[in-house]
Amino acid sequence: MISNTPLIFEESQPGRQGTPIPRPDVPGPELTDILDSTFLRTEPAELPQVTEPEVVRHFVNLSVKNHHIDKDFYPLGSCTMKYNPKINDALASLPEFAKLHPLQSDDTVQGALRLMWELERMLGKITGMAGVTLQPSAGAQGEFTGALIMRRYHDQTSGHNRQFILIPETAHGTNPASVVSAGFKPKVVKSNTRGKVDLDDLKAKADGETAGMMLTQPNTLGLFENDIEAISSIVHAAGGLMYMDGANLNALVGLTRPADMGFDITHINLHKTFSTPHGGGGPGAGPIGVTEELKPFLPVPIIRRTEGGNFIRDYDNPQSIGNVHSFFGNFGVLVRAWGYIRMLGENGVRRMTRSAIINANYLKTKLAPAYNIPFVEGTMHEFVISGTRQKERGVRVLDIAKTLLDFGFHAPTIYFPLNVSESMMIEPTETESQQTLDKFAEAMLEIDKMIDSDPERIHSAPLNTPVRRLDETLANRKPNLRWRP
Ligand SMILES: Cc1ncc(COP(=O)(O)O)c(C=O)c1O
Repeated sequence: MISNTPLIFEESQPGRQGTPIPRPDVPGPELTDILDSTFLRTEPAELPQVTEPEVVRHFVNLSVKNHHIDKDFYPLGSCTMKYNPKINDALASLPEFAKLHPLQSDDTVQGALRLMWELERMLGKITGMAGVTLQPSAGAQGEFTGALIMRRYHDQTSGHNRQFILIPETAHGTNPASVVSAGFKPKVVKSNTRGKVDLDDLKAKADGETAGMMLTQPNTLGLFENDIEAISSIVHAAGGLMYMDGANLNALVGLTRPADMGFDITHINLHKTFSTPHGGGGPGAGPIGVTEELKPFLPVPIIRRTEGGNFIRDYDNPQSIGNVHSFFGNFGVLVRAWGYIRMLGENGVRRMTRSAIINANYLKTKLAPAYNIPFVEGTMHEFVISGTRQKERGVRVLDIAKTLLDFGFHAPTIYFPLNVSESMMIEPTETESQQTLDKFAEAMLEIDKMIDSDPERIHSAPLNTPVRRLDETLANRKPNLRWRP
């Protein structure tokens, strides 16, 4: 069943409009003074004609049809849908930030440059890295930038033959994609029975053709790779660099630092750890940090503070890989992350990390009576359960995910990671109360009971959402995205 809310175009009635703004009675430039007339419309645009309240109601009603973090719990593992404090939006909307133009000269944007410079330093302190760039606009672009830096480093140290980047089999899909985009080949390293890097397999694969390793810490099963020092030593001994996929930094901030674990490069998904809207490839922010040795290769411009105390965008970095982003179109995201870190302070970010870890372990324990827990040891900020016991009774995790929507929750990530059958990846984040976690756990346990008492209800879920169960294959193959009058 498709929701019958009309499109705003269908609500249109000729002559309706919002508040009319009188034309200015002082002379100003005409459009033709600014744009060549060949670029101007000759007919008015076909915009819907509706009143202001109609517009407001239309979009408010649409906004509650979808699930979002302001509506209820959103435990999407690996995606970190933590609550974004509204004060961050207020900061980013300050006209002094929001109305800047990227071509303004440095002396007119000192506050913005200072904010970026400070954010780089905060992230350097959190990761232990000597240099940070804010350029990449997503985690995946950070991976790509890091891989380009690896290439540049090896080219300068006669490592032209180093074409492989080692990637554990639990890796996020963006890892191999970024590695290939940067001209390397991924080589998969097996996991052991504890869900962590298999050291013997790593030793067999790290060799003179290894450019480095891209490792998520904690890994995508939510497990801390506690052999990390040994892993780093093996890769370094083979001449490779260690890249940390820092998407899960939410589990480490204030407790340990990537540089101390032997990583040479790391990215930071600001939108995951520092509570800015999730980018999904942009407009997020995936800054990267590097060790002293790799600093010369960072993208330009670098934000520098001159001896006189001014802030400048410095393009003069002859060994740089270039730039990976034109201007700083994601500046609003940087303001939000700066605000989040400043607001929490050093102790606050540590408490953030601890709460995220405690919440995940609490929920994991609550679900254990009904669901298989493939890796029993303590988890970090997220964890994986398996629906194999439910599958034996005729229900797949897809059905469980759809039923959760009727309980008013967003479903966790399902069927990822790939090395756990019927996997459900759950990340509660630090921003949820014990009551919310309890409500979610009760829903999960009730769904498990419904498998025996009312399986049909589960197979037909969701019943309470504006759109029922979709034929996802058809929706992908024949998407119907265009409005036709
Ligand atoms: C482990 C991991 N690596 C990489 C990424 C990619 O980050 P982005 O979505 O910012 O490109 C994610 C995204 O959630 C992730 O969870």
